[in-house]
Amino acid sequence: MPAMVINRYPGWIPEGALNRVAGRLLRACGLASKELNILVTDDEDIARINQQWLGRQGPTNVISFPQDETDLLGDIVISADTARREASEALTGLGQRLMELLIHGMVHLLGEDHEAGPEEAKRMQRKEQELKILISKENIMADLCINVDHIATIRQARGGDEPDPVAAAAIVELAGADGVVVHLREDRRHIQDRDVRLIRETAKTRLTLEMAATDEMIAIATEVKPDIVTLVPEKRQELTTEGGLDVAGLEQSIGDAVARLNDAGIPVSLFVDPEVDQIKASGRVGAQCIEIHTGRYAEAKTAEKQEDEFEQIVKMATMATDLGLRVHAGHGLNYRNTGRLAAISEIVEFSIGHAIIARAAFTGLDQAVREMLKIVKGT
Ligand code: PXP
Repeated sequence: MPAMVINRYPGWIPEGALNRVAGRLLRACGLASKELNILVTDDEDIARINQQWLGRQGPTNVISFPQDETDLLGDIVISADTARREASEALTGLGQRLMELLIHGMVHLLGEDHEAGPEEAKRMQRKEQELKILISKENIMADLCINVDHIATIRQARGGDEPDPVAAAAIVELAGADGVVVHLREDRRHIQDRDVRLIRETAKTRLTLEMAATDEMIAIATEVKPDIVTLVPEKRQELTTEGGLDVAGLEQSIGDAVARLNDAGIPVSLFVDPEVDQIKASGRVGAQCIEIHTGRYAEAKTAEKQEDEFEQIVKMATMATDLGLRVHAGHGLNYRNTGRLAAISEIVEFSIGHAIIARAAFTGLDQAVREMLKIVKGT
């Protein structure tokens, strides 16, 4: 184990993500064979360590202890209390700040010291920046799949045949989208059976079929063979999909639907709220993916609430990845709130519809897709 995270902090910290970043740092520095210990603790504990080993008073954000042993590069101690305060001052998340402190501690282990003078401080800052870029290059860019349901909503408003979601699917693909998503609802309020069949025939990327776990829909999926099915809850009166699937409460029936779709050669994603029970149940029923319902994050009315929801998404994305599930995310995402989620390396796919189709009314669909691609890919 090249990097080991020891968590002594009483609150939650993204242990899995820290571990992965530490591994990437070692690789980026050509030190993949070395070991690195990371202790995450609170202000009281780091103040004690600061006093005992460096003779300094009070807490600090990070301390590095280089080691001379051949296999061990050193120990990095981080205070999550201080990291949390610094994150809130800088308007970033705890996870982001912990990563920055880890990089800072790592550069100290490599022999740099910003306290040695202004030149040394500049050199250290440059090195941190270089490492940040190097490890972000290892990040796999998430895919952007576009939901074209609301092109069909406009068509259905007049009951005619324009605009055609099949044409929309071709345009989003030409603009660079990684996939097309349609939700065939039981009441056929927007997407029609013919749309699904034609997009299946014409799509050059991937087709995701969102549907309820009913016999009717499973039969259609088995015949049309989308690249993946996302199972969603469906209520007739709802405006859009409200809330995630209750996998934990319906394990038997959802497990059965997953098995039937898998038997037809179709991988299955489950649209779930970011909750421990739902993620664990998704692993148990044999799904290949989860799609985290981002509605609570997107609709948060205060920055504090949004921060809590963001951290919950990071935590659940990490847990799902550790369970071997691929992680997608979607619902209510727009041009302002997607960027932060795109930085979570565990989320490998975004499913976005309404915001892109709404912007397309003013800018054109091609432009609206390209703008969202920039946000998701961070380019
Ligand atoms: N993912 C799922 C499972 C959905 O049901 C929807 C809404 O159809 C979306 C993503 C896209 O949500 P939005 O239209 O708010 O971007």
